[in-house]
Amino acid sequence: MKGTKLTFFLIFLASFAAIIPTLSADHDPEEDKKYWKARADAAFNNTLKTYNPNPHIVASDTNKEVHRMLKGVTNDTRRALRGKMVFGPCLATNPIDNCWRCQANWAENRFRLAHCGIGFGKTAIGGKGGPIYVVTDPSDDDVINPKPGTLRHAVIQTGPLWITFSCDMSIKLQQELIMTCNKTIDGRGAKVHIAYGAGITVQYINNVIIHGIRVHDIVRGSGGMIRNSVDHFGFRTESDGDGISIFGSTNVWIDHVSMSKCSDGLIDAIEGSTGITISNSHFTDHNDVMLLGASNSQVKDKFMQVTLAFNHFGKRLIQRMPRVRFGFVHVVNNDYTHWNMYAIGGSQGPTIISQGNRFIAPINDRLKEITKREYAKEPEWRSWNWRSEGDLMMNGAYFVESGDPASIDKFKRDCNLVKAAKGIEVTMITKFAGALDCLPGKKC
Ligand SMILES: *[C@@H]1O[C@H](CO)[C@@H](O)[C@H](O)[C@H]1NC(C)=O
Ligand SMILES: *[C@@H]1O[C@H](CO)[C@@H](O)[C@H](O)[C@H]1NC(C)=O
Ligand SMILES: *[C@@H]1O[C@H](CO)[C@@H](O)[C@H](O)[C@H]1NC(C)=O
Repeated sequence: MKGTKLTFFLIFLASFAAIIPTLSADHDPEEDKKYWKARADAAFNNTLKTYNPNPHIVASDTNKEVHRMLKGVTNDTRRALRGKMVFGPCLATNPIDNCWRCQANWAENRFRLAHCGIGFGKTAIGGKGGPIYVVTDPSDDDVINPKPGTLRHAVIQTGPLWITFSCDMSIKLQQELIMTCNKTIDGRGAKVHIAYGAGITVQYINNVIIHGIRVHDIVRGSGGMIRNSVDHFGFRTESDGDGISIFGSTNVWIDHVSMSKCSDGLIDAIEGSTGITISNSHFTDHNDVMLLGASNSQVKDKFMQVTLAFNHFGKRLIQRMPRVRFGFVHVVNNDYTHWNMYAIGGSQGPTIISQGNRFIAPINDRLKEITKREYAKEPEWRSWNWRSEGDLMMNGAYFVESGDPASIDKFKRDCNLVKAAKGIEVTMITKFAGALDCLPGKKC
């Protein structure tokens, strides 16, 4: 009897030992590979679903929204805003801001922001309808089992979540912050810095809003085991040091974010990401600002559609605002006050519609050209649709257009393409770019 019991016991021990590797399946590289492959496949379905076959209609709707809003701005306000003077407690100068900023109850009604988007990322509603999660703890000590109250704990939760911050804080991420679907990171009401650590990763997910935070001095994450949802963690290689990396993701809206000094790009959108708007943001102190499509062989980026609106590309920037492969990018009513190589560039035949921006060229005569075609000679790039309409050129700035003018006329006809607000309005439209200092109970 005794002997039998012991044998059973030993068998039990042996089988328990055999179970251990299964329990830690997350650590198995093959399992990780399968996990991310499934995520990638599901994400590509979202890419196809999100892709809009009539991008010019989206561009023209954006322009309509701007006109509708500017109609309500008096000539006096216009004049004042173009200069240095800012008066009054609240002045919204573009349709996104006009949708929420001048409402004193913005803090009780945070979800309103979800309906203020424009352009290709307009459908992102983030965590609307979900609980509000208040981040109270700036630490990031455990990236496998994040502590409740931290930003990392917030972003891995299942289901929609609207993430806010209890007070001003600076969060140094030990590793890249891997977000999940249906989330809003809403920095309004606190000065939130994501700085001196790793950056934000938006990978194979859908429906994200990132608003009102400051992302700077991002460095590479060493990689290692990182939790990416409540029920999964796995091994990640070193992260690149991008501020925000959008990878195979859809319906992403980045608004009123201030960004500078990251060790790679400030924002990348790659690997079939689409349905993206980057607006009201302020970029400074950086070389490679924004990369849209990273690989010549990644043809999924043909589905990439991005709106860049009301941003300020500011001091000490050098190039890539953006640099585009394949996709369709509507660059509208942005203020380009600094570049030191070129502003807008690309390869692999992307479509770039530049409307109503202000471009101020650097002093150096060799740097007046806004555009740059990479790795292509004129016979090749002549057919790429790169158009400038209503842009304000200053200090000798010039945009080299390409593409078939007849095709532009055709989509103007077909899609009723509305001209953007003029470049002269841009100083006013972008006056409040970057993270805002909003106080609950007061108009922002
Ligand atoms: C993607 O869509 C196809 C066709 O609709 C479907 O057969 C497939 O199961 C979907 N894949 C995933 C991972 O959702
Ligand atoms: C405002 O300015 C526009 C363009 O300069 C002009 O056509 C319009 O009459 C002005 N409106 C008023 C109320 O002065
Ligand atoms: C995100 O929200 C959408 C719409 O409510 C829902 O269909 C989807 O399943 C959600 N995704 C996840 C991963 O929770």
